[in-house]
Amino acid sequence: MKSAAILISGRGSNMRALVEARTGLDVRKVISNRPEAGGLDWAKERGIATAVVDHQAFTDRESFDAALASEIGSADFVLLAGFMRILTEGFIRRFDRRMLNIHPSLLPAFPGLHTHRRALEAGVKVHGCTVHFVTPELDSGPIVIQGAVPVLAGDTEATLAARVLEAEHRVYPQAARWLAEGRLEVKADGAVEVRGVARSAERLVSPPEER
Ligand code: GRF
Repeated sequence: MKSAAILISGRGSNMRALVEARTGLDVRKVISNRPEAGGLDWAKERGIATAVVDHQAFTDRESFDAALASEIGSADFVLLAGFMRILTEGFIRRFDRRMLNIHPSLLPAFPGLHTHRRALEAGVKVHGCTVHFVTPELDSGPIVIQGAVPVLAGDTEATLAARVLEAEHRVYPQAARWLAEGRLEVKADGAVEVRGVARSAERLVSPPEER
């Protein structure tokens, strides 16, 4: 069985979805850069090893990333789940093709922060989330799967975020399952092939009622 470390910074609902979905990955450790991250308690209660690597205790990104790598140890994969730190290029290269992130927008639209607010301001009618391999350029690695949701009249940042989060909890476990099964291959042009998954539609997940 392949193993994974999950990195969080906060409540950890994506971590929870990944653990509960039984993706075929052995979640060896949950690591947070914030001691107060709510997700840590949930993981501990389930008997999952946890660790805190508090970024405030480090003077530079390199030493923080070195401590993080040592906590990750020999895990096969790293899953970023609401992990709010920029990682160094060296760290990212170390986990090349072995590290996924979930981002709350349909990339390449709205990389960075405050994605729901920006989507509302832009007036888009469709929004969502993206699971991608992590590369040195922020929020722009090869895309594995996306979840799309409608933007509805009267939406606020909070209602839109909640709708997107539901999609996140469906697509991230799917991506992790493919990773565990060794199905993901990044082609020379940067596109991700999911071996054995014929229909490309399965990689754009819409809300159940709209399928
Ligand atoms: C999610 O919306 C994720 O996409 C973003 O941060 C949020 C984390 O939520 N990167 P949670 O900690 O997984 O509940």
